[in-house]
Amino acid sequence: MSAQLDAAGRLRHLLTLDGLPPSLLRALLECARGYVRMPHAAAPRGRDLEGRTVANLFLEPSTRTRVSFELAARRLGADVVNVESAGASMVKGETLLDTIYTLQAMRTDFFVIRTAESGAPARVAEHVEGDIAVVSGGESHVSHPTQGLLDALTIVQRKPDLDRLVVCIVGDIAHSRVARSATQALRTLGVRELRLVAPAELMPHATEFPGSDRFTDLDVALDGADVVMALRIQKERMAEAEIPDQVVYRARFGLTRERMKRALPDAIVMHPGPMNRGVEIEGDLADGPQSVIRTQVANGVAVRMAVLATLAEGARAR
Ligand code: CP
Repeated sequence: MSAQLDAAGRLRHLLTLDGLPPSLLRALLECARGYVRMPHAAAPRGRDLEGRTVANLFLEPSTRTRVSFELAARRLGADVVNVESAGASMVKGETLLDTIYTLQAMRTDFFVIRTAESGAPARVAEHVEGDIAVVSGGESHVSHPTQGLLDALTIVQRKPDLDRLVVCIVGDIAHSRVARSATQALRTLGVRELRLVAPAELMPHATEFPGSDRFTDLDVALDGADVVMALRIQKERMAEAEIPDQVVYRARFGLTRERMKRALPDAIVMHPGPMNRGVEIEGDLADGPQSVIRTQVANGVAVRMAVLATLAEGARAR
């Protein structure tokens, strides 16, 4: 993987949270707190990206990540271009790198990339010129670093003492970039306990997710949990025959208000979206008082502003 940090330890690209120092994660979260929009207040703005261009290159579908990167970049004063796979010259055979070189020739300063291809953001980071920064907007099952940051921010806003928390993640862990990035962030920040819950066929390989406990019984795993995150089944990363039966899955792994009684009374419920209501999460739970799902979405803008501003500050300092 290309270096994410420069010689002075400043963020150069953001491709994964794996291996980033706790001090940097804390600084990004602290910066993001300053960009959180307060109720009835205008959206925070800045001039950190004035005169810069951000290209959002989304080669997989996205609502939250793409729109929040666009809002974040605009609120920091950038010009923004959105390139989506269906309308891009890649459908005519142009390679990803040739698309990057084309946008680079138009003086793009930041590439935000969502892709189903493992390793693509790092490959782009190795090939861009000068101080152009690459940010992963979600890489296959591998990494979704800004999602991991916004999940960590949402948790610490409600429950600041991470070293006391039991965090339970239930669903398709094997195919989840969200679970990988969230657990990387939480482990680095010193969370007490991480519990992964999935059917055996959706558990990740034993070498992955170090320091986490694995469960196949959701009711057992929920006992004493402070934070419960439900994940979508990533059908797009499975063969037809691998897709679980939804009725069976919901009965064993669906998160419901009834099931949440096993967690602590003040436990919060998270979901990265998009949700399949009635499958991995009951609609009333997703909309209910324990849910922080819309706060996650709101925090996505603040976190992406913090990441872009931090990258721009590093470029100015080099
Ligand atoms: N959580 C997330 O990445 O959502 P989108 O796919 O809508 O961006």
